[in-house]
Amino acid sequence: MKIKILGAAAGGGFPQWNCNYRLSRDARSGAPGVKRRTQSSLAASADGERWVLFNASPDIGAQLLATPALHPGPEGPLRATPIRAVVVTNADVDHIAGLLTLRERQPFNLYASAKVHAVLEANPIFRVLDPALVRRIELPLGRSTHIEGPDGPTGLTVETYAVAGKVALFLEDGGDPAKFVSHDGDTIGVALTNGGGTTAHYVPGCAAVDASLRHRIEGADCLLFDGTVFHDDEMEKAGVGHKTGRRMGHVPMSGPDGSIAALNGLRVGRRIFVHINNTNPVLDERSPERQHVVEAGWEVGEDGMEVVL
Ligand code: MLT
Ligand code: MN
Repeated sequence: MKIKILGAAAGGGFPQWNCNYRLSRDARSGAPGVKRRTQSSLAASADGERWVLFNASPDIGAQLLATPALHPGPEGPLRATPIRAVVVTNADVDHIAGLLTLRERQPFNLYASAKVHAVLEANPIFRVLDPALVRRIELPLGRSTHIEGPDGPTGLTVETYAVAGKVALFLEDGGDPAKFVSHDGDTIGVALTNGGGTTAHYVPGCAAVDASLRHRIEGADCLLFDGTVFHDDEMEKAGVGHKTGRRMGHVPMSGPDGSIAALNGLRVGRRIFVHINNTNPVLDERSPERQHVVEAGWEVGEDGMEVVL
């Protein structure tokens, strides 16, 4: 199985277009050790030929251009793509807006939880994906699904599981967090397997790590996990917003209940943070926070990073 990180940043990207925080400024000016990153997406393939996208970010056009394996190919039909399917793990803008770029009468299958499909169905703009060409297939929670393309199996299987998350930001309806925190499919994690016994988990949004998540991840060959913020309150400290990471549905990396501590001690081949927000100090390779995550056995995801399992 091959996995390519197409975009390692969270919503907004890095640098974010309107952000003057020091990290976005450094990324914009090309400061050493501060690499730019596009918004959250992966591509995975069991055979290197048939590819499945995991989330479709607003940057998908540039991401595909930067990834020759995802080009239509040097010859063949006038309309072609190695992308057979797209799996969406929540309905946030950074994970669904790229679906609009994938119009142009191209067949593929679109997989998501029932809750995420309901969000897409409620928004008529997604009808640009002609239902005659783009089949919408439900991923049942807690079960395994063979991911198929329009021309048959891709060789990849995903098992889905609900994680602590929340409804998409644009669907929040007021100030009471109890109204939008969810555990039932607004946000899912996926375990990818290729039939050969290797497993990678992809969890780009997760508000808390509990015992059942730890149990699931134990023994995985690779974990690609929510790296939105390092400190729960870093957005406020940076002066760019008042929300904590947890309030946005993202467990911080640091702290006694943070992801590094909560996932410590599990047997996992590679641990890679993805969906990294533009306030997260680990984006600066020279920062003490970066040193901390590396010493804890984590990698910090970058666009173009490949995992071969
Ligand atoms: C998130 O991950 O919290 C969302 O992508 C936020 C957003 O929609 O901008
Ligand atoms: Mn996001």
